[in-house]
This record gives sequence, structure tokens and C-alpha cells, in this order.
Amino acid sequence: MNGKMTSALPGFYTRSLTERRAIAKAWGSLDAADIKALADSGLSAAEAELMIENVIGRYSLPFAVATNFRVNNRDILVPLVIEEASVVAACSKAAKLFRAGGGFQASSDEPIMIGQLQLLDIADLELARAQLHAQKRAILRLADEKAGSIGTRGGGARDLELRSFPTSPAGAMLILHLHFDTRDAMGANVINSALEHIAPFVESLCGGRVNLRIVSNLSDQRLARASGHIPLAALESAGASGEQVAAAILEAAIFAEIDPYRAATHNKGIMNGVDALVLATGNDWRAVEAGAHAYAARDGSYRSLTRWTRDAAGNLVGEIELPLALGIVGGATRVQRAARAALKLLELESAQELAEIAAAVGLAQNFAAMYALATDGIQSGHMRMHARQLALAAGADANIAGDIARQLIAEDAIRLERAKELIQEREQRP
Ligand code: MEV
Repeated sequence: MNGKMTSALPGFYTRSLTERRAIAKAWGSLDAADIKALADSGLSAAEAELMIENVIGRYSLPFAVATNFRVNNRDILVPLVIEEASVVAACSKAAKLFRAGGGFQASSDEPIMIGQLQLLDIADLELARAQLHAQKRAILRLADEKAGSIGTRGGGARDLELRSFPTSPAGAMLILHLHFDTRDAMGANVINSALEHIAPFVESLCGGRVNLRIVSNLSDQRLARASGHIPLAALESAGASGEQVAAAILEAAIFAEIDPYRAATHNKGIMNGVDALVLATGNDWRAVEAGAHAYAARDGSYRSLTRWTRDAAGNLVGEIELPLALGIVGGATRVQRAARAALKLLELESAQELAEIAAAVGLAQNFAAMYALATDGIQSGHMRMHARQLALAAGADANIAGDIARQLIAEDAIRLERAKELIQEREQRP
């Protein structure tokens, strides 16, 4: 449906909550039940009990949409769940600038997950490798017995890889990697089941002992990439030319290339966007985090997940590549109705498409952070939100919190005590 709709929704942030919900409903394929799920956090206490153990309550976070996204020529409203102020606004603003350059181009690998079998007590590593190679087809056939509905959708075991560690402190170790196409699922469950299923056969083939059988979160067979450019003119900010801003952003990017202390923060900014989408869609953000940071350190030194350059016309060009093991079936979406609404809003054809959008969001967020840091700094925006939160904490009604916050900023007195005084003054007004 959204093929005809634009995600550029000027003034969306000025609308009321009810209006924003109505726009999101008209925009995507959400129905009244989805809107209700967004309004009630998508999870009843009874449903929460189906998800984890020892439940004593539920915990809500804001669910927003980022505007202006265009990925592979398709407009998208991006659902984001996050507690940190400024991320959604920054992401939407960045997407607007990339949109001026045609939006994001994104691609992704087939959804191949890696599962690991740890083999110990092997007398002859080379012989064991040869035996496992010789039986590769039989091992893959056995793993496929656990493919279930993923198999029906065309997924299944694809390949084996063997990695030797001849002299570990635990003795010689042979690690078998099972590559499994998990289609639209994140796939940890299916791969763990397949590993447990093949373990006795693998053990019998190489005469060793299997210890761990578990998915690897360094899902580097399942990478997603996004790129885009921002025309120089769109980079102009108050007091700085597009040329100056582009140069300052490239300097910031180089900082993250050469210094792990900076790279960690730079990548944290990327994950502000990625995690918020991962969380909104009910996916496992710890798995995505682990994969992203391990990938950032793949050459032995922790580096930026993005690359920034200029093209022949001087435009700023950004690229990102990271592992994104995301599912659009199973997992929390079975129970969490707001996560299901998020997936409906995205109107996805595959889990790969979700990974591509997540990569674009990460790139947008990285640009937004560097743009702010290389121009005004991030504190002015943060302080505005902080002032609102202080006003609420001081007891302001949501209707007047904005006014109180504006006054705190105007007085340069963003303090709880002052917020309380201002509320009192308002209450005493005739
Ligand atoms: C804050 O959550 C994220 C930033 O620190 C990212 C960055 O420094 O690039 C602003």
C-alpha cells in the first residue's frame, strides 16, 4: 500500500499523539487492533507470563516512527522503540538529507546463520577433518531433519566449515561450523536444535567428544549493507558551509577509524538506531549488538562500522556493513502485539528486507550524530528534552510541561527546584 505514500511527513512531530496514530494507520496496513496494541504496549500481564519466568509486571518504552526514509526506492515509516531523547528526531532529519540524494541503497546476504560444535579429545585433527569432510552430505541431511517450517519455506542446512585450534589450553580443538539458511526467522532455535541433533553422529565420525552446541552471534554470513549520499548544499548549517561540514564529518569519521575509544561511541550511535528498530520488531537486540561489535573488531582492532568519503561532485557518501540476524516470524512477535504492528507497518517481504532497513537506519543515525557533533554539539538538543523531563519530574501536567521547559531554557536554569517554582507560580495565577 505504501508504494504510493511518501514517508516525508512534514510537521509530523507537531501533531498530537492521536493524530500521529491516525496518520500511521492511514499510511501503513495497520488496523484498529494494531493501534490498540500500540496504545496498550502490546502485552497483557497474562501474555507477559508466556514470555519469561517469574513475571511480576510489565515495562513500557516509547514507540515512535522515524519519517523520511526511502530504502531501495521504497518509502518506509520506521518503527523505533527507545528511551533516549533525540534519536528519532535525529534519524528522521538524517533520512531527509539522504532523501535529497535519492535515499538509501541497501543489500544483504542470504539469511545464513552459523552454528558451532566444539569437538575435543581428538587424537588426530587432520584425520578427523578428512572424516567429517567425507561425510558432509550425510551431516547436512541429518541437520535438515530439524528444519521444520523453515525447510518448507526453502531454508535448511547449506554447508560445513571446520576450524582447527591445535594448541588451546583445553587441548586440540576442532570447531565445526554448520551454515544454515533460516529464511525469515532469526534462526537461533532451529540451528541449536540441528546442532544437538547432529552432535552424536559427528562424535562417532571423528572419535572425539562434543562439548558446546550453540549458534554463533558473529553472523558474518548474514551481512547487510546500506549506502547513500548527501548533496553538499543539504549539509549547510547555521554558520558553516556544506564544504566545511563535510570536511568536519570526514575528520570525525577518520577519528573513529583510528581510535577504538572513539569507535566504540561512534558505533554506539549507530546502534541507537539499529537497536531501536530491532526492539520495535521484537528481535533479539543482544544478539545484534554482540554481532555488530565482534564484526567491528574482525581485523584485530576495533573499528567504525561505517565508511565516509566524498564523490566526484563533492557529495558526502556514507556506507555501512554489519551482521544483522533478524527475523520477521517467531520469537517475541508470537506474543508481543506492538512488535507485530511494527512489522505490519514496515510491509516487508522478507527478513532480509528488514536487515537492509536496519542498516540504513544505522547509517542515518551515524550521520546524525557526526553532523551534530561536528556542528553545534549534541547538548542543546539534549538539554531541551532534559528540560521537559525535569518539568514532568517536578510535577508539571503533560499539557504545561512544554511551556515550563521553554521557560527553564530561556532562563538558562534547567534545574528541578526552578521547575517546581515555575509550576507553583502558574498554580497561583488567578
Ligand atoms: C549518544 O547516545 C550517541 C553519540 O555519542 C554517538 C556519537 O558520538 O557518534 C552522540
